[in-house]
Amino acid sequence: MTSYFRANVEAMDGYVPGEQPTDPAVIKLNTNENPYPPSPRVMEAIAQVTPDQLRRYPHPLGERFRRTAAEVFAVRPEQIICGNGMDDILNLVVRAFTGPEAALVYPVPTYSLYPCLAQIQEAVVREIPWGPNGALPLDALVEARGRLTILANPNAPTGIFTPVEQVAALADALDGVLCVDEAYVDFAESNCLELARTRPNVLVMRTLSKGYSLAGLRFGFAVGDERLIAGLMKIKDSYNVDAVAIVAAAAAVADQDYHRQIREKVIIERQRLTRALIGLGLPPLPSQSNFLFLQVSHPPAARVYESLKARGILVRYFNIEGIRDFLRITVGTPEQNDALIAALKELIG
Ligand SMILES: Cc1ncc(COP(=O)(O)O)c(C=O)c1O
Repeated sequence: MTSYFRANVEAMDGYVPGEQPTDPAVIKLNTNENPYPPSPRVMEAIAQVTPDQLRRYPHPLGERFRRTAAEVFAVRPEQIICGNGMDDILNLVVRAFTGPEAALVYPVPTYSLYPCLAQIQEAVVREIPWGPNGALPLDALVEARGRLTILANPNAPTGIFTPVEQVAALADALDGVLCVDEAYVDFAESNCLELARTRPNVLVMRTLSKGYSLAGLRFGFAVGDERLIAGLMKIKDSYNVDAVAIVAAAAAVADQDYHRQIREKVIIERQRLTRALIGLGLPPLPSQSNFLFLQVSHPPAARVYESLKARGILVRYFNIEGIRDFLRITVGTPEQNDALIAALKELIG
């Protein structure tokens, strides 16, 4: 049958999101959600939404969020663009900066959405392998001459953090735009926001899905030079964030005390889970995120993934060249992590 799609769309597989089981009893450690609930202030803000707020279109730029976030992150509101999750903004930057003659460059392995977005755009893609032990391949990234370079920091699925000085050196050496995907930065010891404040070619992207426990709300944002943000505004959907999401997201970033509390809990559990995995002979890579990435060879990672799933514990397995003998495990609550460790002991011990 003839295809109605453009050849590149016909040829692509599309992004495959992690499984979302319907059974609430499943211990879900596969998509890096936060195991703790969002701030109570978020729920209060949602409860106060009026029928009139729903009857009318929302503010096209999500102004209430922009004003709140500008204060929290010490930038001007004009330096912020909101998105329906960070994925929405990643889509915007790939559309804005790349194409058949404008390359998208990123180190691999990394977030598997990037190549999907490039395929839709028919963009040239240059994938650069990370250096030994996850070191930044700075020279190779610069030589790849991307109009857009994306660096996930901490990286997914490894959790490894690239020091800010190295990201700054990369930004300064590039001719094009550097987008720092900070989806997991809430669990790291530093961040690149200062580069977005001081460099004309740096966009720092954040999400409320991980550090603020709001994956279901779909809210992300990017910070950068006002000219970059203004350019992205031209191609976003007219109302890309909804009225409920705007007030809920503003309440979440305003409650930094709560944010810090749940961040600490996740980091303490990450450290405990790391020690337990080392004890099982499965040392994870050094992670500054809310997940751990570990090599599992005996039995093979795919089998361990299946066996855990049969026991009601869902982790992430990537059937991708180079990382087929790894599992990525989200840091859960102490009880969830205990169940995971006990199951791994039986399966591997
Ligand atoms: C590296 C990375 N960037 C971005 C995202 C997307 O975040 P959001 O839920 O805001 O679309 C994810 C989600 O898992 C991610 O792993």
